[in-house]
Amino acid sequence: MIQIHTYDSYEDLSKHAAQLVSDQIRMKPDSVLGLATGSSPVGLYKELIRMHQEEDLDFANVTSFNLDEYLGLNPEHAQSYRTFMNQNLFDHINIEIVRTHVPSGIAEDIAAMALSYEQAIHNAGGIDLQILGIGSDGHIAFNEPGSALDSRTRVVDLEEQTIRDNARFFESIDDVPRQAITMGVGTILEAREIILVANGEGKSAAVSDAVQGDVSTQCTASALQNHSKITFILDKAAAARLNI
Ligand code: F6R
Repeated sequence: MIQIHTYDSYEDLSKHAAQLVSDQIRMKPDSVLGLATGSSPVGLYKELIRMHQEEDLDFANVTSFNLDEYLGLNPEHAQSYRTFMNQNLFDHINIEIVRTHVPSGIAEDIAAMALSYEQAIHNAGGIDLQILGIGSDGHIAFNEPGSALDSRTRVVDLEEQTIRDNARFFESIDDVPRQAITMGVGTILEAREIILVANGEGKSAAVSDAVQGDVSTQCTASALQNHSKITFILDKAAAARLNI
């Protein structure tokens, strides 16, 4: 059963999500966090930075695993998800950079890299708290419609819709990579707790399909219905199509 928390503003939902993350870290200082990129968690990361600076939230023993990376972008590329994470979170908190993991988009043997990413999550003890966004086509990580609900970390083709949605981060739509490496739906579902943040009207259909639709590969976020500890943290616009 997906728990729904709705807030008036993006700022409020970000604060609430950050509170859940900080509760997790204070309860277990060596927590393993699963992290997302994209615009949705930026407010949450800002609030975590504030908590680190003003309230001594300590990331010294935290380990992190990001969901995904564009295929072909090296970590130093301005639009890589490694750069995104450094700029939006890691550079501003006291996490050990060696304990932060982002899949490599440039490994020579991507299949072997995907396997070792899964193994590294396992060796770290599994993910305690996974943060997710949701794509307008209902994807979680880059598990586009049609992805198996037991899929693992692998290379995927991005949908046209996702390429269009993400073009805002690039100079032109032609610069958006067509493929990515992503944790699978099955990988994500193994996290002990999951929070999904979504804001804006553009997410309302995906949110309602995920929460109220059938569990289906056509909306991979619907697989979250089968998780035992999952909370959607929404603003009013993203929650607008829910019957609550
Ligand atoms: C990012 C990710 C994606 C995004 C989703 C929403 O690591 O895995 O699933 O969460 O595409 O992106 P935004 O938040 O930019 O709308």
